[in-house]
Amino acid sequence: MGDDGLAVRAEGLEKRYGGKRALDGFDLAVREGTVHGLLGPNGAGKTTAVRILSTLIRLDGGRAAVAGLDVARRQREVRSRIGLTGQYAAVDEVLTGRQNLEMFGRLFHLGGRRARARAAELLARFDLADAADKGVGEYSGGMRRRLDLAASMILAPAVLFLDEPTTGLDPRGRGEVWDAVRALVAGGTTVLLTTQYLEEADRLASRVTVIDRGRSIADDTPDGLKNRVGGDRIEVVVAERSDLPRAVKVVARVSDGEPEAEEGELRVHAPVLDRVAALTEVARTLQDEGVRVEDIGLRRPSLDDVFLRLTGQRTDKTTEGAAA
Ligand SMILES: Nc1ncnc2c1ncn2[C@@H]1O[C@H](COP(=O)(O)OP(=O)(O)O)[C@@H](O)[C@H]1O
Ligand SMILES: [Mg+2]
Repeated sequence: MGDDGLAVRAEGLEKRYGGKRALDGFDLAVREGTVHGLLGPNGAGKTTAVRILSTLIRLDGGRAAVAGLDVARRQREVRSRIGLTGQYAAVDEVLTGRQNLEMFGRLFHLGGRRARARAAELLARFDLADAADKGVGEYSGGMRRRLDLAASMILAPAVLFLDEPTTGLDPRGRGEVWDAVRALVAGGTTVLLTTQYLEEADRLASRVTVIDRGRSIADDTPDGLKNRVGGDRIEVVVAERSDLPRAVKVVARVSDGEPEAEEGELRVHAPVLDRVAALTEVARTLQDEGVRVEDIGLRRPSLDDVFLRLTGQRTDKTTEGAAA
C-alpha cells in the first residue's frame, strides 16, 4: 500500500458547506492491517472525512491518500481498493441475503458463477449461512449490518470504511458486528471505523483519532485515552441541592482522583479502582448520613468523559457550538 506503511493518510483536510467548516484541518494516519477508530460526537465531521477518503465528495483543501493513491487525482484506482458501508444498510429488503450478495457481485462484474461462490463464502464468514435464503425483511438489526458488511467485502477491498456500523443496534447486534469486524481484520483488511462509543473503539481499534469540529484533537491507543480519563467512574445524583457537598465528600473517600460535581444536574462523579467496593461503600454511607439519592451507579468512561478531559466541554455543547 502506501510506501510509508499507511493505508490511509490525510493532512490538513478541509471541507466547507456554505459558511460551515465540516472539516477544518483534519489529520489522520492509519497503519496497514489495523482497525483505526475515528471517535467523535454527532456533527464532528466523521462522515465527511469518510466520504472524502472514499472519493464520494471532493475536498476543498489539504490532501489525502488511500492505499498510497491520492484521493483527488486517482479516484478510480482508489475505488477499486476500498469498501464502504454507511450508517444505513444498502441491502434490498425483499431479496434474501444470498440474492443480495449475488446481486452485488454481478454489479461488480464478477460473473454468475463467481458471484455465487463469493456470496456463499461471505455468508459463511459472517455467520449468515443459516439465514441465507430468508428475506432480509426478517433479519435482526445485527444480521442486517453483517449482511451490509458482507456486501462491502464482495471485492475483498484492501481498506474498508465503516461509518458507525453499530449505531442503533441493541447490545447483542453490536456484539455480532464486532465479531464480524474482528474476522475481517484477521483476514488482512485495514478498517477505518467511525463511532460515537469509546467502548467500541476500545474493543476493536488498536489506535484512535478523536475528532471535534472537523479537527483531530487526539491520536492515541484506546488504553492511552482511557488512562487520560481515569478508567471506571462512580456516579451519584442526589435529590436535594443542599446534599451535594456531602455526597462529594463521601465519593471523594472512595475515589481514585478528584470528584467532579455538576451542580445543575445535582450530580457528582469520580474515578474508582475497585468498582463494586466503591459502589457498596458509597451507597451505605449516603444512607447512613440520610442523604436522599436519586440515582447511583457505575459507568465505564464514555466519549463524553474523553471530551470533557480533552476540550473542557461536554460533547453536546461542543457540537452545538460547531453548528452555530
Ligand atoms: N451535505 C451537507 N450540507 C451541509 N452541511 C453538512 C453536509 N454534510 C455535513 N454537514 C455538516 O458538517 C458537519 C459534519 O457533519 P458529519 O461529517 O456528517 O458529522 P458526523 O458524521 O461526525 O456526525 C455537521 O455540522 C453537518 O451538519
Ligand atoms: Mg456521520
